[in-house]
Amino acid sequence: MLRLDIEKTKSFMSDTEMAAMMARVKEARDTVMNSTGAGSEYLGWRDWPKDYDRGEFARIKTTAAKIQGDSDILVVIGIGGSYLGARAVIELLGGTGGTGSSSDGSEIIFAGKDLSETAYHKIERKLAGKNWSINMISKSGGTLEPSIAFDVFRQKLIEQYGLAAANQRIYATTDANHGTLHDLTVQRGYEKFVVPDDMAGRYSVLSAVGLLPIAVAGIDIDSLMNGAQAAMNQATDDAMTYAAVRNILYEKGFRTEIMAHFDPSFGQMGKWWQQLFGESEGKDGRGILPDSIVFTTDLHSLGQYLQDGPRGQLFETLINIEEIPGGTVTIPGSDDLKLGYLKGKRLLSVNQVAYQATLLAHSEDGTPVLSIHLPEANPHEVGYFIYFMELAAAISAYTLGVNPFNQPGVESYKKHMFKGLGRPEE
Ligand code: PA5
Repeated sequence: MLRLDIEKTKSFMSDTEMAAMMARVKEARDTVMNSTGAGSEYLGWRDWPKDYDRGEFARIKTTAAKIQGDSDILVVIGIGGSYLGARAVIELLGGTGGTGSSSDGSEIIFAGKDLSETAYHKIERKLAGKNWSINMISKSGGTLEPSIAFDVFRQKLIEQYGLAAANQRIYATTDANHGTLHDLTVQRGYEKFVVPDDMAGRYSVLSAVGLLPIAVAGIDIDSLMNGAQAAMNQATDDAMTYAAVRNILYEKGFRTEIMAHFDPSFGQMGKWWQQLFGESEGKDGRGILPDSIVFTTDLHSLGQYLQDGPRGQLFETLINIEEIPGGTVTIPGSDDLKLGYLKGKRLLSVNQVAYQATLLAHSEDGTPVLSIHLPEANPHEVGYFIYFMELAAAISAYTLGVNPFNQPGVESYKKHMFKGLGRPEE
């Protein structure tokens, strides 16, 4: 079970300030739990780990087994909340054959998350000579980047398999009743999964949006959901404490939160967290800027700025994963490299010392540092982490005084782009 440690933030706030903020946070928690706030029609994620659709869940598993049987690769097409969560879980838990996964998984490739010709060509090269399928994910069913990718890769799928067989290799995850993708799915007979009406994209990873790709990668989705359910029962106090510390620091001028983790496999989880908090809180001229980096890699680049740059602007949340199964590395400790003192040590234990050292160095130099300890990178703990963060984001946003579940700012660039591209409706 995840453990939150706020010890190294305490010198930045008094007990009175904490008590006053906790009173506000409790109100925000009640707003979430009683569905009384702005955007409360998007609270579907709140009880989901208990109430999720068992019928669809079983179909996700059957479909995943079919895809594993007939496809070396699953091309998952989606952007923002329609891809980040799945990618985060798959990269952290190793996908095919890695941590938390079976060896039967297909490789998952993500498309439609950019407008890069280079990215398209890379994917095409990977698909050459392989059997593959598509999972097209869009709640609205009309987002430009994934729609273009679907247009391009569906054509390739049809060229490779013929229309009828290609249709059997397309899986659509979209709105239950509306939208271009929904209509097309009905018309072409693609197998369909639902993005629940009451979930904004960034809160949808534990629905079919994330679960189908995650299951195809061979990761245990039962365990993932059980972990989320455990968080539903146990994570509220930690989520409230996290929300309180963030809001106190924000009000004292700390406007940036750096999530720093110590393993590149957590990198996409950092991006998922960034979207979750960035889109939930950054509105009405308010909000903490969330950024995520990887240590020790970035200690050799941004480390200088973090240690020695301006004070009073940013705080850090360090993610310490205590065990990452999937193969240990033991250091030989050669004397000619002057590494004798490390002889026989596990690389993971050196990484743990790096975490401790960073915590001390940065907090001693005037930066508030929170720590989140994950006992192990496995599906259960990851499910727990996801739900904890979703709850914390909602509570923190309500404490800040904004609607956590809309994203009006994302529409602006789209308007300009569609106008620039000459879409008829503009
Ligand atoms: O979190 C969100 O709501 C957004 O990031 C969306 O997921 C993203 O814009 C993609 O939208 P859609 O699933 O409608 O294609």
